[in-house]
Amino acid sequence: MSELDADIEAVVVSAEAIDTRIEELARSIDADYAGREPLLVGVLKGAAMFMSDLARALDRPSTMEFMAVSSYAGATASSGVVRILKDLDRDIAGQHVLIVEDIIDSGLTLSWLLRNLTARNPASVEVVALLRKPDAVKVEVPVKYVGFDIPNEFVVGYGLDYAERYRDLPYIGRLRPAVYGG
Ligand code: PRP
Repeated sequence: MSELDADIEAVVVSAEAIDTRIEELARSIDADYAGREPLLVGVLKGAAMFMSDLARALDRPSTMEFMAVSSYAGATASSGVVRILKDLDRDIAGQHVLIVEDIIDSGLTLSWLLRNLTARNPASVEVVALLRKPDAVKVEVPVKYVGFDIPNEFVVGYGLDYAERYRDLPYIGRLRPAVYGG
């Protein structure tokens, strides 16, 4: 139990369901990457929990890199302008890159990331996202592995924040509107 639980009005994905789904995703990734070592590229900060649990669930060895991007800072969401706050520490040319995202909402961050990383000549680029919202389905972003399709509501936990808090909850939950003045 966490004292943050009181701010959550409903559990959207339980810790047990996350655990089970990550095992399933890991088995698919292990099978698809037979003979190849994936380079997991985690997108900070939201993907931190998913990245560490997924990497440990894989039987296949993987390596890790992290990127931090600011979504559309100083611009409207629809412009899709993304700024790199922290770049990869190494060259990914010839690597089998697997982008690890916590959530795809509008799909703009991912669409930009795919273009950016593909330009660095990796051997392959795929995406694994724990959560996907309905709008993302409309965008032409190829996402090979999806944990859960969730409704278009404000969720926190397991990496997802509201004002930088709630990332440490072990489940995904819907925040009480009173918490954000709704
Ligand atoms: C979230 C999430 C994705 C992005 C998805 O990151 O981790 O990277 O938004 O949204 P989109 O599909 O509409 O582009 P955020 O900018 O909230 O940063 P954080 O992970 O540090 O919380």
